[in-house]
Amino acid sequence: MEVERIQALAAVGLDTLPAQFVRPSHEQPENSPAVEGVFVPVISLSQPHHALIREIHEACRDWGFFLATDHGIPLELTGQLQEAGREFFRLPQEEKEKYANDPSRKNFEGYGTKMTKNPDEKVEWVDYFFHFMHPSGKVRHEIWPRHPPSYREVTEEYNKEILKVTEVLLELISDGLGLEKNVLKASLGGDQMELEMKINLYPPCPQPQLALGVEPHTDMSVVTILVPNDVPGLQVWKDGNWFAADYLPNALFCHIGDQIEVLSNGKYKSVLHRSLVNKEKTRMSWAVFCAPPQEALIGPLPELINDQNPAKYSTKMYAEFRHRKLNKLPQ
Ligand code: SIN
Ligand code: FE2
Repeated sequence: MEVERIQALAAVGLDTLPAQFVRPSHEQPENSPAVEGVFVPVISLSQPHHALIREIHEACRDWGFFLATDHGIPLELTGQLQEAGREFFRLPQEEKEKYANDPSRKNFEGYGTKMTKNPDEKVEWVDYFFHFMHPSGKVRHEIWPRHPPSYREVTEEYNKEILKVTEVLLELISDGLGLEKNVLKASLGGDQMELEMKINLYPPCPQPQLALGVEPHTDMSVVTILVPNDVPGLQVWKDGNWFAADYLPNALFCHIGDQIEVLSNGKYKSVLHRSLVNKEKTRMSWAVFCAPPQEALIGPLPELINDQNPAKYSTKMYAEFRHRKLNKLPQ
């Protein structure tokens, strides 16, 4: 089926935003502006352990979100990853279409643009490329971009680095919850824990104040670790307001996902977030989702529930959680 790509639509040079992208008035960025002068937490991963655990705990409890600095991923590698992604999207349209995914056939990997099933639903101003990165048994290199030729090597290197950071974060979050440090990773399938890459491309938008790049949502992941380019746009929701998570060079944008909310029995909340688009500039982001394997059973950790604190979430297979979330069914 022919899919209208946002990048191709933007290239036409429209003056007005087509109706299917115009958000309902209350969702439009100008009617729901971010609070100014308040900054999301920035946490250096190289500070003394005690202070680090406390900062992570507070950020996860209060925001479900923080920027991590001093994480050890070389700036040069992140730059190469970003350049490879940019190169892919610079390919002629017919080349990119060779990688088209087909979510209607549950074929999510590849080049995509989210479509709506229902004509009243609005379309997001974003194209993406999505693929598995880890564990190796889930990876299908044949569907990764073949151009630029460096894509595979750079992405595999980034995968190794992000896996190390993910493991460190899971230990810190376990610690913050008062658990043994290996508990979260173990309940996520240990070495079967999955990492997925999603490259988002938000082309320049003729009327950015009427549109959204990504509508408000929480991630169904355990954690999401994202690096954006230098065009701002990500906003996170806290206590009834939006806050801008502006670009900070070489920081990792860390989101608490739904699985941590469930495992922690609500002590840490998954962060509601959205992304805005820009009139002149292309925004991009590289999101790595850390997720349990489909068959993992996820529910509130027994260590965190008792008679005073009963389970607030049901225990179910991750595949079931995912099915419900994708089909907007109650959990
Ligand atoms: C997303 O949450 O899906 C993307 C956010 C971003 O691009 O910053
Ligand atoms: Fe997200």
